[in-house]
Amino acid sequence: MDPLHLWPEPLRAQTWTGDAGDLTALADDVDTLLAACGREVTREHIPRVTAEARRLARHFRVPEGAAAQAALLHDLGGIVPRGEMVPLCRALGIPIYPEERQVPMLLHAQLSVVLARERYGVTDEGVLQAIRYHTTLHAAPNPLDLVVFLADKLEWDQGGAPPYQAALRRALRDGLEAGATWMLRWMASPEARLLVPHPDLRAAWAAFGVTARG
Ligand SMILES: [Fe+2]
Ligand SMILES: [Fe+2]
Repeated sequence: MDPLHLWPEPLRAQTWTGDAGDLTALADDVDTLLAACGREVTREHIPRVTAEARRLARHFRVPEGAAAQAALLHDLGGIVPRGEMVPLCRALGIPIYPEERQVPMLLHAQLSVVLARERYGVTDEGVLQAIRYHTTLHAAPNPLDLVVFLADKLEWDQGGAPPYQAALRRALRDGLEAGATWMLRWMASPEARLLVPHPDLRAAWAAFGVTARG
């Protein structure tokens, strides 16, 4: 977790000695950390995304434990204050895109990966990849990536149900890829009011044949 001093104090104060495969203990630790860091919105968002990820995983026959573990950890990097995300990533040796410098919050997924790997000892590359791409997707997502990405969109963190929830659920009747295509189209529409399209999102748009409008 070096450089440890750059991480928020509650993370340093609260050590983890558990097994990240124990999803109940993991959920408790994540919840306590989010509370200690005053991240009430995320704290409320995580159990909803995790329940949705479990539902999608069961329905589409994706390993449910992996989906739940990725969902529990996907936004934990958000405990790092926005202004400290770029310096922390730089100190960790994480390459930073210009878009991420412009909108540092885009780095929260990368920081979640570091926490998953280093605090909790998660080594499943599939779980780590699903965490990393939960916001943007990427050019060649696998079913676990799609489950975590879509669970995060169905149970967003902007208060209440997202305006597209019913339409996305309808699209999902034709499968995960159809759901992802629908969601990526919405994200390319002016309604999404994206601050800046991340390069990984642009790669996903290209791979799914989506043209950005607006
Ligand atoms: Fe996120
Ligand atoms: Fe999220």
